[in-house]
Amino acid sequence: MNAKQDIHLAIVGCGRIGTLRGRLAAMHPAVRSIVVMDTDAAAADKLARTIGASFCTTELAAAISRPEINAIIVSSSEHEHTTPVIAALRRQVPVLVEKPIALTVADADLMLRTVQELGGNLRVGYSRRYKTRYLLAKEQLRQGRLGTITGACARLYNSRAQCLAMLGRNPHATPVVDALTYYVDLMGWLLEGNPVTEVFARGQKGVIQAAGYDTDDVTWAVLTCRDGAVVNLGVSYALPEKWPSVGHAARVELLGTDGVLLINDDHTDQIMHTNAGFPHVYLPGQKVETVFLESSTSGDWALGDFLGPLADETRAWLDELATGKPCNLATPQDARNTLAVTLAIEESARTGRVVDVCRAD
Ligand SMILES: NC(=O)c1ccc[n+]([C@@H]2O[C@H](COP(=O)([O-])OP(=O)(O)OC[C@H]3O[C@@H](n4cnc5c(N)ncnc54)[C@H](O)[C@@H]3O)[C@@H](O)[C@H]2O)c1
Repeated sequence: MNAKQDIHLAIVGCGRIGTLRGRLAAMHPAVRSIVVMDTDAAAADKLARTIGASFCTTELAAAISRPEINAIIVSSSEHEHTTPVIAALRRQVPVLVEKPIALTVADADLMLRTVQELGGNLRVGYSRRYKTRYLLAKEQLRQGRLGTITGACARLYNSRAQCLAMLGRNPHATPVVDALTYYVDLMGWLLEGNPVTEVFARGQKGVIQAAGYDTDDVTWAVLTCRDGAVVNLGVSYALPEKWPSVGHAARVELLGTDGVLLINDDHTDQIMHTNAGFPHVYLPGQKVETVFLESSTSGDWALGDFLGPLADETRAWLDELATGKPCNLATPQDARNTLAVTLAIEESARTGRVVDVCRAD
């Protein structure tokens, strides 16, 4: 890649994903310097040392007001996106924020209004858009090979250990709002121009409730799109702790008037068993003996490089800033509407009623 513009990046939030973004950015040819910020000094310091950051702080303003900064990544916890995103947008530089954009529609709308008022550039990291099999699906739809989509489904499984880690960060970061959200975004992207208008869902409680959270073990939803297409989405983050997938295990199906596309994303095609234990990328301290390789949601380290959706997504965003080559990341409108659908699924499962989805266009 021939970089046209040098990037001086600030990373806000130096946890798991901020660290990954920081390490990936440090390898990008256009990135000249990186400033790191986290309210937890130890987390900021650790990432600063790992990537040789030029500045490290616990103060948001001290990081983003530095004159050289011309791009900001917000990788703080789900409920801590709004304040840094709005401050970053006011700094008038491109901003990448992790999914979900927020945990309430009011916060998402505040960000959207700020983008609109300032003409800001905000993108949201829904890394399924950078998984090869889903990019290929998008291409088939663009080429019209499936005809008109009449129905679709996606179901997502993961272990209860991952669910408890998410809920421990914030009890509102539920499997629907924090994980099924990827597949709501994916369907919105694949079925572009045919948004979800109505949601019906049911759920059942079990082990997650027994662990102290008012959250379903299983949620199944039927979504109706504007033209009447029906989409079935389901999630269970309550599989046994040592379930061999160390991230999303999914299946996605698209049904059209001229074709059908079935995507097995369970990763059962590469199975390893090791007495040494395979480290869980997301859960430090947890090891599984049987593992579905390539099932880590963000990707995997191999031979000193990081391979997978989060790597390709981070590079694509940085490439756009450096060279102008357009990236595929979700817009704030996409992310706000995705959040509204996930909250509608939870409301429907809770009340038993059909819920209309209120969109922002
Ligand atoms: N795209 C993906 O593959 C993927 C995967 C996992 C998580 N995520 C998303 O990434 C985000 C972070 O998740 P994580 O797993 O890295 O969480 P984490 O808990 O590992 O890290 C979050 C970090 O944010 C810091 N933080 C909290 N409030 C802050 C604030 N106001 N300012 C600055 N720093 C603050 C915390 O101290 C912590 O270091 C979430 O939105 C999550 O949903 C994305």
